[in-house]
Amino acid sequence: HLSVHERIDRKRNAALVGGGQKRIDAQHKRGKLTARERVELLLDPDSFVEYDMFVEHRCSDFGMEEDHNKFPGDSVVTGQGRINGRLVYVFSQDFTVFGGSLSGAHAQKICKIMDQAMMVGAPVIGLNDSGGARIQEGVESLAGYADIFLRNVLASGVVPQISLIMGPCAGGAVYSPALTDFTFMVKDTSYLFITGPDVVKSVTNEDVTQEELGGAKTHTAVSGVAHRAFENDIDALLNLRDFFNFLPLSNRDPAPVTECQDPSDRLVPGLDTVVPFETTKAYDMLDIIQGVVDEREFFEIMPNYAKNIVVGFARMNGRTVGIVGNQPKVASGCLDINSSVKGARFVRFCDAFNIPIITFVDVPGFLPGTSQEYGGIIRHGAKLLFAFAEATVPKITIITRKAYGGAYDVMSSKHLRGDVNYAWPSAEVAVMGAKGAVQIIFRGKTNQAEQEAEYVEKFANPFPAAVRGFVDDIIVPSTTRKRICRDLEVLASKKQTNPWKKHANIPL
Ligand code: COA
Repeated sequence: HLSVHERIDRKRNAALVGGGQKRIDAQHKRGKLTARERVELLLDPDSFVEYDMFVEHRCSDFGMEEDHNKFPGDSVVTGQGRINGRLVYVFSQDFTVFGGSLSGAHAQKICKIMDQAMMVGAPVIGLNDSGGARIQEGVESLAGYADIFLRNVLASGVVPQISLIMGPCAGGAVYSPALTDFTFMVKDTSYLFITGPDVVKSVTNEDVTQEELGGAKTHTAVSGVAHRAFENDIDALLNLRDFFNFLPLSNRDPAPVTECQDPSDRLVPGLDTVVPFETTKAYDMLDIIQGVVDEREFFEIMPNYAKNIVVGFARMNGRTVGIVGNQPKVASGCLDINSSVKGARFVRFCDAFNIPIITFVDVPGFLPGTSQEYGGIIRHGAKLLFAFAEATVPKITIITRKAYGGAYDVMSSKHLRGDVNYAWPSAEVAVMGAKGAVQIIFRGKTNQAEQEAEYVEKFANPFPAAVRGFVDDIIVPSTTRKRICRDLEVLASKKQTNPWKKHANIPL
């Protein structure tokens, strides 16, 4: 007979090896780390506190009740720990135990940490690597998914939720990552889809590989389902640690402030010449963003999707900020369906979690055409407008060049409660560009060139907006960093509330 202590040790040791050495080797052979190795890399050394190592599945069908089919901890490792000393809850699905499939017990373990995370106010990170619903458990497993989905929804806007997809994630399982704030993927070894290639073939007769259907490239460049992809497990987990440093722990927490070596009053001389003299010539908005933020460090979100808008996190004098910028390099920086949705979701995350928003504007308008209109640019563009308008965090806007038409209003304008709105001398705030404007108002009646020159003189400059107080100042571009840092200091104590409501009804 074994003593209780021996039994405890035995179970703990069994939990530590998951599905056994053979399956661990198979996992490594695919270039993947095990669930526990991932947790170790993600968290500060020795900070992981594990829960539920003794939990086992309770299925007694298909021979599952037999001892060799019981694994202490079942197919997920859960608990809490620290990233750079800050609390985080983690679950890491263990592919070596029944392919990481989700049993009732597995779901319960995840729900337990989510509930605690919401109560104490700390983010939840999910490391997904799972064959989906535990087939032997049937509806018990489906119930488990729904229990997690419900918590994803309730936690939304309360604590940041991040999913890192590190293996398969298919069927209903995809909806948990989809409900979280950020979904990251590992290149070549992870995929997300509702139905796999075989089902696709039988229903639509399409031939498609797993990678084409739901790999990292597809979701970061085509579908917009994932926000970033990383080279391998290690790269992904280390990037996740960096990313975590930008986030507040909960909606009750201010955005973190870290020590900053980069002087807040640093001038950025390059900005005085970054905008080309010719208004139709492109430049890279990233040059402006990187020039302005602390240490040029910019964590871009969705860098390969809807590239006509740039969004991401940075710091200004150590304070986390969310940055939104039109990208003149891609489609002249116009707003279309995908860029509106990308921008809106980002702005709403920042607002939910007290992160100030800095917006760089160079937008020639919304993209015209039937494909945009039929696709619903009106309701999708409304999302970005809605998001900026409802946001009550500090909002600072810099018009670097064009701010044309309705897009001017949308891009965190004064009228949508922008706190500080600046124009650079190169700014042009108008209904449209000179050529189109003159064609419409004069209909070829007069000398086109002369009228255009008059229009440019009147409108293609920052004065019409500045004389009305729609921009607070016209600033020298090289002083932009200094101005923003000073404004953020002042706006740190900003308090603004929206009218009471159950929740708003953002156009979807
Ligand atoms: N339920 C129970 N066990 C599962 C499972 C599931 N959903 N998915 C995988 N497993 C088990 C396998 O039986 C296998 O067990 P073993 O190690 O004892 O042999 C182990 O997990 C590994 O799976 P395997 O199929 O060998 O791995 P793979 O890398 O070749 O394929 C998947 C991975 C996920 C593509 C494949 O397992 C699969 O298609 N699973 C079912 C997916 C699904 O349809 N789920 C329900 C949708 S919600």
